[in-house]
Amino acid sequence: MTSEWWRTAAIYQIYPRSFADANGDGMGDLAGITSRLGDLQDLGIDAIWLSPFYTSPQRDAGYDVADYCDVDPRFGTLADFDAMLAEAHARGIRVIIDLVPNHSSDEHEWFQAALAAPAGSRERGRYLFRDGGGPGGDEPPNNWESVFGGPAWTRVIESDGTLGQWYLHLFDSSQPDFDWTNEEVREEFRRILRFWLDRGVDGFRVDVAHGMVKAEGLPDYTPPAEGGSMGGAGGVSVGETVGATVGATVGATVGGTVFATVGADATGVALEPEISTEPGALAPYWGQEGVHEIYRDWRALLDEYPGERILAAEAWVDPLPRVAKWVRPDEMHQAFNFAYLETPWNAAALRQVIDDSLEAFAAVGAPSTWVLSNHDVVRHATRLSVTEANPQGHGLGPRSKGLPEYAPGLRRARAATALMLSLPGSSYLYQGEELGLPEVIHLPDDARQDPTWFRTDGERYGRDGCRVPIPWEADAPTYGFGPDGDPWLPQPEQWGELARDRQRGVPASTLSLYRDALRLRRQHDLGAGSLEWLPGFPSDAVALRNGDVVVVANTGAEPVELPDGEVMLASGPLEGRSLPHDTTAWLRA
Ligand code: NOJ
Repeated sequence: MTSEWWRTAAIYQIYPRSFADANGDGMGDLAGITSRLGDLQDLGIDAIWLSPFYTSPQRDAGYDVADYCDVDPRFGTLADFDAMLAEAHARGIRVIIDLVPNHSSDEHEWFQAALAAPAGSRERGRYLFRDGGGPGGDEPPNNWESVFGGPAWTRVIESDGTLGQWYLHLFDSSQPDFDWTNEEVREEFRRILRFWLDRGVDGFRVDVAHGMVKAEGLPDYTPPAEGGSMGGAGGVSVGETVGATVGATVGATVGGTVFATVGADATGVALEPEISTEPGALAPYWGQEGVHEIYRDWRALLDEYPGERILAAEAWVDPLPRVAKWVRPDEMHQAFNFAYLETPWNAAALRQVIDDSLEAFAAVGAPSTWVLSNHDVVRHATRLSVTEANPQGHGLGPRSKGLPEYAPGLRRARAATALMLSLPGSSYLYQGEELGLPEVIHLPDDARQDPTWFRTDGERYGRDGCRVPIPWEADAPTYGFGPDGDPWLPQPEQWGELARDRQRGVPASTLSLYRDALRLRRQHDLGAGSLEWLPGFPSDAVALRNGDVVVVANTGAEPVELPDGEVMLASGPLEGRSLPHDTTAWLRA
């Protein structure tokens, strides 16, 4: 691979729980990944990103880490990790792992020590413990809400049985936020980075990279009603009245300590005056300036290692020039382009976001990235055709409205992918999209595991529908996901026809489309190319030239006439030189 491989890489996200299960316990594992790397090499990706596989009680599917330097027994051992890494490298595939620095699990030894220690102790100082407001400290320290719904504070019951301080968790109550103003926390994460770099990983995808530093004084904040994402500029949640219901559970037991979240109305318990909620304003927990010095520190650390190890930011902020701050020359290498992911299948909107992306990232010398699916969003084979509003994280289920049929949804998704893979920069793919998997809508309620589902009493379905274990062989038990047993989420019958072995070598299959697009993308060096818009096409068409490839995507209802040139790739059947709706073609210029 060329130097600065990350500028052009196609990076495939593996969600270890749902990729391949070698030991038959119903959950994917590292040995399963190793056994299937040949298929990924064949697909033609450059790198994989692994979601967390660390020791964890799995309250948020591993994004609640109890030991950052070990493998959870469900996923295997450190030796399995080393074997997987060696096999990937032998196949020319780089490996990026997930780093979760905003919060730990409540089962992390530091948090357990914090619970056992008194207010004001060194142990509590690694997290964000605060006294409550109101008489008796009964009210949470401020009005912040959890991204997963409900309050962002939980009160502890001290070892002597009295109600005590509160701790902050921007996500589930089992995910206490670290205090990143604490040097001990910083030093610990340097150790963790080195632990994995020494083992040979090629980099880190940094979870909640916009959230680690909070505004001083933790001021109250009411997010605007619109928004809804893993915490964009719009705030943590959508359409919820902050302060209306702070607290629901009393006496949940976590790690031997009883927690109480006391019902209260948080309105007016500000420690500081409430800050502005004007559009584009940052919440006091997202995108604070202080995060950037952390990444400068990490970048210097990574640069000590040979072989271009990278940092990729999960930073849900907008607009794009703000995201670009994460990838200034002395900070991270890449940031996910969620603006692109959230753009509807509409030519004008796509042209705009592509222009904005290339401009914003180029301004700081970084490549743009592109992404359509991941483990937090509705799969794009469904999402791009949903006709009702569906904020990120709410998910889809049997009660949802405006759901598409499978075939038209897939058709559009294939066209969207073919457009994405023609763009200069680095693209992220999410396991199963190369099979055309849709969101799984009909999961039984009692199978759902996303904390969002529990924290909103089922009002939001959450993210389980994009996390269902993927199919490999149509006729095998669990569609080849594992040897037998029940996968951790039930697989729909449709998985049979979408299994990889049914698609391999079939020219019209989605798998072949991805494979062909990745091969041509590499052959024509599209990742390193530059984009020029082509005039003279109907407004519903996205028409561009990247090097010696012309790309036309038709987002409208009417067919679009293709220009001259040999068709190298088409996301669906063409009618002569006519490009039907929801189809993308690549032509030799
Ligand atoms: C973003 C991750 O992608 C998501 O899955 C997780 O729930 C949150 N961060 C909290 O770690």
